[in-house]
Amino acid sequence: MVDAFDVTTLTNLLATLIRADAAVGWADPPAETEVGELLTTLVDAGPSEAQVVVARVDETVVGFGYWRRYTRTTLRPQADLERLAVATDFSGRGIGRTILRDLIRTARDAGCEQLTIDFRGDNQGAERLYLSEGFAEYGRLRNFVAPDATRRFDKVFQVLDLRA
Ligand SMILES: CC(C)(COP(=O)(O)OP(=O)(O)OC[C@H]1O[C@@H](n2cnc3c(N)ncnc32)[C@H](O)[C@@H]1OP(=O)(O)O)[C@@H](O)C(=O)NCCC(=O)NCCS
Repeated sequence: MVDAFDVTTLTNLLATLIRADAAVGWADPPAETEVGELLTTLVDAGPSEAQVVVARVDETVVGFGYWRRYTRTTLRPQADLERLAVATDFSGRGIGRTILRDLIRTARDAGCEQLTIDFRGDNQGAERLYLSEGFAEYGRLRNFVAPDATRRFDKVFQVLDLRA
């Protein structure tokens, strides 16, 4: 479970990553209320609709990720892994891979057929991690991501087939 203390920790974790130019879907660090509302929405949706996985060291949250089923009726069998983030101080210790494996397992247990993910093209760490866990690239939009006025990056799309 995620409590108010965890929301504060996660908000700070995200702010540090975003200020260091991590591509986690926010141009500017989100407010604590936004992070709290997001987590509440995901947990309230129930385990067949969405799953949040947090990683802790000494009871403090050091990483999190979540997947959510697509809402469009025709895409209901599928889920999207929307975010995965590990605190900078704890990167490179296998925590991201552990969270990812939990997300894959829970999506499969929930009956999702395919798990999609997309990320910024310069994120080689994430790319290597997803490929090593079985994801495959199915498309790439050139110069699609514009984090600011001067930079452009590809948007990379990968998918993992959970039926295999
Ligand atoms: C990407 C991220 C989640 C990886 O988490 P992590 O805990 O550092 O990763 P792990 O220690 O579990 O490493 C797993 C694999 O990721 C890859 N990887 C991680 N960091 C890497 C880096 N800096 N360079 C190259 N590969 C890297 C490697 O393949 C690694 O496997 P290996 O150690 O067997 O070589 C983390 O760096 C992060 O939060 N980054 C910022 C946010 C982000 O980019 N999220 C993903 C976008 S959706």
